[in-house]
Amino acid sequence: MNPSPVSIRVAGPQDWAFIHALVAEHFTGLVAESALCHWLCHESHRVFVADLGGRPVGFIHVQPRPAAGELWLNLIAVHAEARRGGVAARLLAHCEALAAGQGLTRLALQCHVGNPQGLAFYARAGFLRGEQHHDPEIGQDFVRHVREVPPGTSAAAFGAVPSIWAGRLRRLRYNLTIGRTSSLGELRSAAPIAR
Ligand SMILES: CC(C)(COP(=O)(O)OP(=O)(O)OC[C@H]1O[C@@H](n2cnc3c(N)ncnc32)[C@H](O)[C@@H]1OP(=O)(O)O)[C@@H](O)C(=O)NCCC(=O)NCCS
Repeated sequence: MNPSPVSIRVAGPQDWAFIHALVAEHFTGLVAESALCHWLCHESHRVFVADLGGRPVGFIHVQPRPAAGELWLNLIAVHAEARRGGVAARLLAHCEALAAGQGLTRLALQCHVGNPQGLAFYARAGFLRGEQHHDPEIGQDFVRHVREVPPGTSAAAFGAVPSIWAGRLRRLRYNLTIGRTSSLGELRSAAPIAR
């Protein structure tokens, strides 16, 4: 089997524009920009980016929930041009390794009931589909999904928290410059300026 061409790394403030573009496109109304910035730059949650050919193509935001023994998968998205190439599956495999490294035994998440792509992806990935429930904060319906981490999964490090100040400065520059661009192509060509 050929090794995967996708590599996974801890996201940093330099990834803000790319991640924000995917979130704005796929999680409209579900995730506030301020919350995303907080997760990326100010908290102990982690955001990981999948690179392909030196370009970011997808990301995942995870949160350990030790009391439940779970690694919670909060957001995952892959750019449309890179889909059906195993990028999200690679991100999930990385999450298993992260969970193992944290002593957690399950991956868990909630998927919007009206998201056939997401539901198909989690079904294929072997998640057990749980009960449907209404999220009062968001005001929409979701389905809980759970998958055990296979015993013997090799552990991956959770990584260091990105610098708070770098994150704040990056967001400021994003709002002043890149935030005015409209497409991911524009964002990508603008990205070197912001680095
Ligand atoms: C869901 C999503 C993350 C999948 O990313 P991806 O990189 O294309 O997924 P993979 O290539 O790793 O897919 C692995 C398998 O999952 C299943 N799958 C993935 N996307 C699917 C789709 N749109 N329809 C049916 N099955 C799908 C397939 O079985 C696929 O294997 P195959 O391509 O060999 O048939 C991507 O479609 C996406 O970013 N969607 C928008 C954001 C989103 O909905 N996120 C989930 C929120 S809960």
